[in-house]
Amino acid sequence: SSIENGSFTWSSPSNIALVKYWGKKEHQIPENPSVSFTLDNCKTTTTLSFSKKESSDDFSFDVFLDGDKKDDFKLKIEAFFKRIEAYLPFLRDYYFKIETSNTFPHSSGIASSASGMSALALCLMSIEEELDVDHFDDYFFQKASFLARLGSGSACRSLEGDLVVWGKHDEIDGSSDLFGVKYPFEVHQNFKNYQDTILLVDKGEKQVSSTVGHNLMYGHPFAQERFKQAHENLSSLISVFKEGDLDTFIEIVESEALTLHAMMMTSMPYFILMKPNTLEIINKIWSFRKKTGSKVCFTLDAGANVHVLYPKNESKQVCGFIKNELVAYCQNGHYICDRIGFGAKQL
Ligand code: PMV
Repeated sequence: SSIENGSFTWSSPSNIALVKYWGKKEHQIPENPSVSFTLDNCKTTTTLSFSKKESSDDFSFDVFLDGDKKDDFKLKIEAFFKRIEAYLPFLRDYYFKIETSNTFPHSSGIASSASGMSALALCLMSIEEELDVDHFDDYFFQKASFLARLGSGSACRSLEGDLVVWGKHDEIDGSSDLFGVKYPFEVHQNFKNYQDTILLVDKGEKQVSSTVGHNLMYGHPFAQERFKQAHENLSSLISVFKEGDLDTFIEIVESEALTLHAMMMTSMPYFILMKPNTLEIINKIWSFRKKTGSKVCFTLDAGANVHVLYPKNESKQVCGFIKNELVAYCQNGHYICDRIGFGAKQL
């Protein structure tokens, strides 16, 4: 590697899974395939500056969040570098300055691992590209997604949009356990520009880290059935996306969210990550749907916050409903309006 120094900036979004990834094998290989909407407003921007070192012994880097040095992030990045150095041999040759910022507040309870790890992986790939490594078509994004996966599994679904599949699935050509791919089939107009309003019910630290969470699936009494169900739900979504069948979409997406939480409630040790306000919101969404025929639905991450999903043409009606009936259940009335996006951008 002959380049002395330089810097690259990428911004990369978060994503929200429709079929959930929960359970993994060694080397961040998922137990089941997942599919997600890429988000638009919730993103991380990372500038990676690099300069050649005298010797190539240890990793050498500093991390800054919103301009403040963050030594508590170093362990996670160091572990990430160790996992990926076999694929990026230049990592020990440079000192790196990692400057990162998120569009969403750090303490919002929204995980920044998907957007953060994908942005960093893309910056590293820009360096590799500059060092003139041979490329095949799709190489750049495929390898960036491969690297992001090793940082945080779901991060491999954040690079492109608007729908990304991660994990080998029989009916989806090109799908892989190693990286995310753009959903390759027809998607009905009903799903274009889908909206996601994130209700921040609990902004506290996660009770269960995703590492602990995935491990709960080892020896879980319902694990094999669950992994099978994820394959089936992804199969069903193929025709749902094609036909624009919003009713079946709602059924699958809400069931996936509740199943994710059911897995946590039935593991050993067991956890309840929903809060009373999470349930209030879910019930309000159900009665609103019954009353108005709206196609609004919810999904959840491994926490108490609620993602409210709805088609673009219902924006006015659903935003009114959210403001009048749901914001009261958010911590300090805090929520984030987002929508489907198209992936990472180099700045
Ligand atoms: O990428 P991780 O290891 O943080 O796991 C994410 C797991 C869920 O967000 C709960 C589901 C998913 O598919 O994103």
